[in-house]
Amino acid sequence: MEEVKKKRMLSGIQPSGDLHLGNYLGAIKNWADRVDEYECFYFMADLHTITVRQDPAELRRRSINQLAQYIACGLDPEKNVLFLQSHVPAHSQLAWVLSCYTMFGELSRMTQFKDKSAKYSDNINSGLFTYPVLMAADILLYQADYVPVGEDQKQHVELCRDIAQRFNSVYGDVFKVPEPLINKVGARIYGLTTPGAKMSKSVPDGCVFLMDSPDDIRRKFKRAVTDSDRENCVRFDKENKPGVANLMNIYSTLTGKTMEQIEAEFAGQGYGSFKPAVGEAVIEAMRPIREEAERLIKDKAYLDDVYRKGAEAASYVAGKTLRKVYKKVGFYQL
Ligand code: TRP
Repeated sequence: MEEVKKKRMLSGIQPSGDLHLGNYLGAIKNWADRVDEYECFYFMADLHTITVRQDPAELRRRSINQLAQYIACGLDPEKNVLFLQSHVPAHSQLAWVLSCYTMFGELSRMTQFKDKSAKYSDNINSGLFTYPVLMAADILLYQADYVPVGEDQKQHVELCRDIAQRFNSVYGDVFKVPEPLINKVGARIYGLTTPGAKMSKSVPDGCVFLMDSPDDIRRKFKRAVTDSDRENCVRFDKENKPGVANLMNIYSTLTGKTMEQIEAEFAGQGYGSFKPAVGEAVIEAMRPIREEAERLIKDKAYLDDVYRKGAEAASYVAGKTLRKVYKKVGFYQL
Protein backbone atom coordinates (compact mmCIF):
# COMPACT_ATOMS: atom_id res chain seq x y z
CA MET A 1 0.00 0.00 0.00
CA GLU A 2 1.22 3.48 -0.79
CA GLU A 3 2.21 5.45 2.22
CA VAL A 4 0.35 8.75 2.61
CA LYS A 5 2.78 11.60 3.08
CA LYS A 6 2.25 13.33 6.40
CA LYS A 7 1.60 17.05 6.49
CA ARG A 8 4.42 19.05 7.96
CA MET A 9 4.13 21.20 11.06
CA LEU A 10 6.69 23.71 12.28
CA SER A 11 6.94 26.08 15.18
CA GLY A 12 9.58 28.13 16.92
CA ILE A 13 9.94 29.11 20.53
CA GLN A 14 12.17 31.92 21.72
CA PRO A 15 14.49 30.82 24.52
CA SER A 16 14.02 34.24 26.08
CA GLY A 17 12.63 33.12 29.42
CA ASP A 18 12.24 30.04 31.57
CA LEU A 19 9.32 27.80 30.60
CA HIS A 20 6.23 27.97 32.77
CA LEU A 21 2.86 26.34 33.34
CA GLY A 22 1.20 28.59 30.75
CA ASN A 23 3.64 27.39 28.07
CA TYR A 24 3.10 23.80 29.12
CA LEU A 25 -0.70 23.68 29.36
CA GLY A 26 -1.25 26.17 26.54
CA ALA A 27 1.10 24.64 24.00
CA ILE A 28 3.77 22.04 24.73
CA LYS A 29 1.40 19.47 26.23
CA ASN A 30 -0.49 19.24 22.95
CA TRP A 31 2.56 18.99 20.76
CA ALA A 32 3.59 15.57 21.90
CA ASP A 33 0.21 14.18 20.77
CA ARG A 34 0.61 15.41 17.20
CA VAL A 35 3.61 13.38 16.32
CA ASP A 36 1.77 10.45 14.74
CA GLU A 37 -0.35 12.61 12.52
CA TYR A 38 2.23 15.16 11.37
CA GLU A 39 5.89 15.46 10.60
CA CYS A 40 6.97 17.93 13.26
CA PHE A 41 9.82 20.44 13.37
CA TYR A 42 10.33 22.51 16.52
CA PHE A 43 13.20 24.89 17.03
CA MET A 44 14.51 27.33 19.61
CA ALA A 45 14.47 30.72 17.94
CA ASP A 46 17.69 32.05 19.45
CA LEU A 47 18.32 34.39 16.51
CA HIS A 48 15.04 36.11 17.29
CA THR A 49 15.86 36.68 20.95
CA ILE A 50 18.69 39.16 20.31
CA THR A 51 16.27 41.73 18.92
CA VAL A 52 16.13 42.69 22.59
CA ARG A 53 19.26 42.61 24.73
CA GLN A 54 20.09 39.22 26.22
CA ASP A 55 22.64 38.22 28.79
CA PRO A 56 24.92 35.88 26.76
CA ALA A 57 25.48 33.33 29.55
CA GLU A 58 21.75 33.20 30.30
CA LEU A 59 20.83 32.77 26.64
CA ARG A 60 23.33 29.92 26.35
CA ARG A 61 21.99 28.27 29.51
CA ARG A 62 18.36 28.51 28.42
CA SER A 63 19.08 27.29 24.89
CA ILE A 64 20.26 23.94 26.23
CA ASN A 65 18.08 23.71 29.36
CA GLN A 66 14.92 24.30 27.40
CA LEU A 67 15.74 21.43 25.11
CA ALA A 68 15.89 19.22 28.21
CA GLN A 69 12.56 20.61 29.38
CA TYR A 70 10.84 20.04 26.05
CA ILE A 71 12.02 16.46 25.96
CA ALA A 72 10.88 16.02 29.58
CA CYS A 73 7.46 17.36 28.59
CA GLY A 74 7.12 14.48 26.15
CA LEU A 75 8.60 15.74 22.88
CA ASP A 76 10.48 12.70 21.66
CA PRO A 77 13.63 13.69 19.72
CA GLU A 78 13.49 10.41 17.83
CA LYS A 79 10.11 11.37 16.39
CA ASN A 80 10.29 15.19 16.17
CA VAL A 81 13.07 17.24 14.63
CA LEU A 82 14.30 19.45 17.50
CA PHE A 83 16.98 22.01 16.74
CA LEU A 84 18.52 25.37 17.51
CA GLN A 85 17.91 28.06 14.90
CA SER A 86 21.49 29.40 14.90
CA HIS A 87 22.78 25.92 14.06
CA VAL A 88 21.12 26.11 10.64
CA PRO A 89 22.65 29.03 8.70
CA ALA A 90 20.00 28.79 5.97
CA HIS A 91 17.60 30.75 8.23
CA SER A 92 19.77 33.86 8.07
CA GLN A 93 20.57 33.30 4.42
CA LEU A 94 16.96 33.04 3.28
CA ALA A 95 15.95 35.95 5.52
CA TRP A 96 18.20 38.27 3.51
CA VAL A 97 16.65 37.19 0.21
CA LEU A 98 13.12 37.49 1.56
CA SER A 99 13.83 40.93 2.97
CA CYS A 100 14.14 42.09 -0.64
CA TYR A 101 10.61 40.81 -1.26
CA THR A 102 9.06 42.40 1.82
CA MET A 103 7.84 45.95 1.81
CA PHE A 104 8.82 48.57 4.35
CA GLY A 105 5.14 49.47 4.70
CA GLU A 106 4.17 45.88 5.50
CA LEU A 107 6.70 45.67 8.30
CA SER A 108 5.64 49.06 9.67
CA ARG A 109 2.13 47.73 10.14
CA MET A 110 3.12 44.83 12.41
CA THR A 111 1.53 45.39 15.80
CA GLN A 112 4.30 43.52 17.61
CA PHE A 113 6.87 45.92 16.16
CA LYS A 114 4.82 48.89 17.32
CA ASP A 115 4.41 47.39 20.81
CA LYS A 116 8.03 46.36 21.16
CA SER A 117 9.45 49.61 19.86
CA ALA A 118 7.35 51.42 22.46
CA LYS A 119 8.52 49.04 25.19
CA TYR A 120 12.20 49.09 24.20
CA SER A 121 12.34 52.67 22.97
CA ASP A 122 16.07 52.94 23.70
CA ASN A 123 16.86 50.05 21.34
CA ILE A 124 14.68 50.16 18.22
CA ASN A 125 17.15 48.19 16.13
CA SER A 126 16.54 47.06 12.57
CA GLY A 127 16.36 43.43 13.70
CA LEU A 128 13.26 44.29 15.69
CA PHE A 129 11.80 45.69 12.48
CA THR A 130 12.77 42.82 10.17
CA TYR A 131 11.95 40.10 12.72
CA PRO A 132 8.91 38.89 10.70
CA VAL A 133 11.14 38.35 7.65
CA LEU A 134 13.37 35.98 9.61
CA MET A 135 10.23 34.26 10.87
CA ALA A 136 8.98 33.88 7.29
CA ALA A 137 12.34 32.31 6.37
CA ASP A 138 12.03 29.90 9.32
CA ILE A 139 8.71 28.69 8.01
CA LEU A 140 9.24 28.73 4.24
CA LEU A 141 12.57 26.87 4.37
CA TYR A 142 10.73 23.77 5.59
CA GLN A 143 7.76 23.98 3.20
CA ALA A 144 5.55 23.72 6.28
CA ASP A 145 1.82 23.09 5.87
CA TYR A 146 0.84 24.28 9.33
CA VAL A 147 2.32 26.70 11.82
CA PRO A 148 0.89 26.44 15.33
CA VAL A 149 1.27 29.81 17.04
CA GLY A 150 -0.38 31.99 19.63
CA GLU A 151 -2.87 34.65 18.58
CA ASP A 152 -0.11 37.30 18.90
CA GLN A 153 1.87 35.69 16.05
CA LYS A 154 -0.98 35.34 13.58
CA GLN A 155 -0.16 38.60 11.82
CA HIS A 156 3.41 37.41 11.25
CA VAL A 157 2.25 34.15 9.69
CA GLU A 158 -0.11 36.08 7.45
CA LEU A 159 2.76 38.27 6.31
CA CYS A 160 4.74 35.10 5.64
CA ARG A 161 1.94 33.91 3.37
CA ASP A 162 2.00 37.21 1.49
CA ILE A 163 5.76 37.01 1.02
CA ALA A 164 5.51 33.41 -0.21
CA GLN A 165 2.77 34.27 -2.68
CA ARG A 166 4.67 37.28 -3.95
CA PHE A 167 7.82 35.22 -4.49
CA ASN A 168 5.88 32.38 -6.13
CA SER A 169 4.11 34.76 -8.47
CA VAL A 170 7.49 35.87 -9.83
CA TYR A 171 9.41 32.57 -9.83
CA GLY A 172 6.84 29.76 -9.88
CA ASP A 173 5.91 27.39 -7.09
CA VAL A 174 8.96 27.68 -4.87
CA PHE A 175 7.32 27.90 -1.46
CA LYS A 176 4.43 26.09 0.13
CA VAL A 177 2.01 28.73 1.44
CA PRO A 178 1.51 27.80 5.11
CA GLU A 179 -1.63 27.96 7.24
CA PRO A 180 -1.48 29.40 10.74
CA LEU A 181 -2.93 27.08 13.34
CA ILE A 182 -4.16 29.16 16.22
CA ASN A 183 -4.15 27.01 19.27
CA LYS A 184 -7.63 26.68 20.64
CA VAL A 185 -7.14 23.27 22.16
CA GLY A 186 -4.68 24.35 24.80
CA ALA A 187 -5.81 26.06 27.94
CA ARG A 188 -5.19 29.77 28.21
CA ILE A 189 -3.54 30.27 31.57
CA TYR A 190 -3.49 33.62 33.33
CA GLY A 191 -1.12 34.94 35.99
CA LEU A 192 -1.89 33.81 39.53
CA THR A 193 -1.54 37.34 40.87
CA THR A 194 -2.79 39.09 37.72
CA PRO A 195 -5.72 37.03 36.39
CA GLY A 196 -6.42 39.69 33.77
CA ALA A 197 -3.14 38.99 31.95
CA LYS A 198 -1.54 35.89 30.43
CA MET A 199 0.82 34.03 32.78
CA SER A 200 4.18 35.61 32.14
CA LYS A 201 7.75 35.35 33.32
CA SER A 202 7.75 39.11 33.83
CA VAL A 203 5.44 38.67 36.84
CA PRO A 204 7.38 35.88 38.61
CA ASP A 205 5.18 35.79 41.74
CA GLY A 206 2.19 34.76 39.68
CA CYS A 207 4.11 32.50 37.34
CA VAL A 208 4.78 28.80 37.98
CA PHE A 209 8.02 27.81 36.27
CA LEU A 210 8.47 24.19 35.18
CA MET A 211 11.61 23.98 37.30
CA ASP A 212 10.05 25.48 40.46
CA SER A 213 10.39 23.38 43.60
CA PRO A 214 7.23 22.06 45.32
CA ASP A 215 7.71 24.69 48.03
CA ASP A 216 7.86 27.50 45.49
CA ILE A 217 4.69 26.21 43.86
CA ARG A 218 2.88 25.88 47.19
CA ARG A 219 3.79 29.45 48.13
CA LYS A 220 2.64 30.84 44.77
CA PHE A 221 -0.76 29.14 44.98
CA LYS A 222 -1.24 30.30 48.52
CA ARG A 223 -0.89 33.88 47.30
CA ALA A 224 -3.04 33.40 44.20
CA VAL A 225 -5.69 36.09 43.68
CA THR A 226 -9.23 34.73 43.88
CA ASP A 227 -11.88 37.44 43.79
CA SER A 228 -12.77 40.65 45.49
CA ASP A 229 -16.41 39.86 46.28
CA ARG A 230 -15.51 37.82 49.36
CA GLU A 231 -18.05 35.23 48.29
CA ASN A 232 -15.52 32.54 49.16
CA CYS A 233 -17.24 30.03 46.94
CA VAL A 234 -15.66 27.96 44.16
CA ARG A 235 -17.87 28.83 41.22
CA PHE A 236 -16.91 29.21 37.54
CA ASP A 237 -17.61 32.81 36.62
CA LYS A 238 -14.98 34.13 34.23
CA GLU A 239 -16.37 37.63 34.18
CA ASN A 240 -16.70 38.32 37.89
CA LYS A 241 -14.24 35.83 39.34
CA PRO A 242 -11.38 35.62 36.83
CA GLY A 243 -8.88 34.48 39.46
CA VAL A 244 -11.05 31.57 40.59
CA ALA A 245 -11.91 30.69 36.97
CA ASN A 246 -8.19 30.56 36.14
CA LEU A 247 -7.46 28.24 39.05
CA MET A 248 -10.39 26.04 38.07
CA ASN A 249 -9.14 25.95 34.51
CA ILE A 250 -5.69 24.83 35.67
CA TYR A 251 -7.22 22.18 37.92
CA SER A 252 -9.57 20.99 35.20
CA THR A 253 -6.82 20.73 32.59
CA LEU A 254 -4.62 18.68 34.93
CA THR A 255 -7.27 16.38 36.38
CA GLY A 256 -9.70 16.12 33.46
CA LYS A 257 -12.57 17.12 35.77
CA THR A 258 -15.33 19.39 34.49
CA MET A 259 -16.16 22.75 36.09
CA GLU A 260 -19.34 21.25 37.59
CA GLN A 261 -17.37 18.41 39.15
CA ILE A 262 -14.89 20.88 40.61
CA GLU A 263 -17.66 23.07 42.03
CA ALA A 264 -19.18 19.98 43.65
CA GLU A 265 -15.84 18.80 44.99
CA PHE A 266 -15.21 22.08 46.82
CA ALA A 267 -18.80 22.95 47.72
CA GLY A 268 -18.88 24.60 51.12
CA GLN A 269 -15.09 24.58 51.49
CA GLY A 270 -14.03 28.00 50.28
CA TYR A 271 -10.74 29.15 48.80
CA GLY A 272 -8.74 28.11 51.84
CA SER A 273 -8.85 24.49 50.75
CA PHE A 274 -9.28 25.05 47.03
CA LYS A 275 -6.06 27.01 46.42
CA PRO A 276 -3.73 24.46 48.07
CA ALA A 277 -5.53 21.62 46.27
CA VAL A 278 -4.78 23.23 42.91
CA GLY A 279 -1.20 23.78 44.07
CA GLU A 280 -0.81 20.09 44.94
CA ALA A 281 -2.26 19.01 41.59
CA VAL A 282 0.29 21.23 39.85
CA ILE A 283 3.13 19.93 42.02
CA GLU A 284 2.26 16.33 41.15
CA ALA A 285 1.93 17.10 37.44
CA MET A 286 5.24 19.00 37.35
CA ARG A 287 7.24 16.57 39.46
CA PRO A 288 8.04 13.96 36.77
CA ILE A 289 8.77 16.70 34.24
CA ARG A 290 11.14 18.55 36.56
CA GLU A 291 12.90 15.38 37.63
CA GLU A 292 13.37 14.18 34.07
CA ALA A 293 14.57 17.63 32.96
CA GLU A 294 17.07 17.75 35.85
CA ARG A 295 18.38 14.35 34.86
CA LEU A 296 18.72 15.35 31.19
CA ILE A 297 20.41 18.67 31.98
CA LYS A 298 23.21 16.73 33.63
CA ASP A 299 23.64 14.69 30.45
CA LYS A 300 25.01 17.42 28.25
CA ALA A 301 26.55 14.97 25.80
CA TYR A 302 23.11 13.55 25.09
CA LEU A 303 21.51 16.98 24.63
CA ASP A 304 24.32 18.14 22.35
CA ASP A 305 23.80 15.01 20.32
CA VAL A 306 20.07 15.75 19.97
CA TYR A 307 20.89 19.26 18.77
CA ARG A 308 23.55 17.94 16.40
CA LYS A 309 21.20 15.41 14.80
CA GLY A 310 18.37 17.93 14.73
CA ALA A 311 20.54 20.49 12.93
CA GLU A 312 21.58 17.86 10.43
CA ALA A 313 18.01 16.81 9.64
CA ALA A 314 16.83 20.42 9.49
CA SER A 315 19.77 21.54 7.31
CA TYR A 316 18.98 18.84 4.80
CA VAL A 317 15.44 20.10 4.23
CA ALA A 318 16.34 23.80 4.53
CA GLY A 319 19.31 23.45 2.18
CA LYS A 320 17.13 22.11 -0.61
CA THR A 321 14.81 25.12 -0.42
CA LEU A 322 17.66 27.61 -0.18
CA ARG A 323 19.43 26.19 -3.23
CA LYS A 324 16.25 26.44 -5.23
CA VAL A 325 15.76 30.06 -4.16
CA TYR A 326 19.37 31.02 -4.98
CA LYS A 327 18.96 29.51 -8.42
CA LYS A 328 15.62 31.19 -9.07
CA VAL A 329 16.81 34.67 -8.17
CA GLY A 330 19.88 34.28 -10.38
CA PHE A 331 22.83 33.65 -8.06
CA TYR A 332 25.59 32.00 -10.07
CA GLN A 333 26.09 28.40 -8.98
CA LEU A 334 29.33 26.43 -9.01
N1 TRP B 1 7.96 34.78 16.82
C1 TRP B 1 7.58 33.61 17.54
C2 TRP B 1 7.21 33.99 18.98
O1 TRP B 1 7.73 34.94 19.51
C3 TRP B 1 8.67 32.59 17.57
C4 TRP B 1 9.00 32.13 16.20
C5 TRP B 1 10.13 32.44 15.50
C6 TRP B 1 8.21 31.29 15.38
N2 TRP B 1 10.10 31.83 14.30
C7 TRP B 1 8.94 31.13 14.17
C8 TRP B 1 6.97 30.68 15.54
C9 TRP B 1 8.44 30.36 13.12
C10 TRP B 1 6.48 29.91 14.48
C11 TRP B 1 7.21 29.76 13.28
O2 TRP B 1 6.42 33.31 19.59
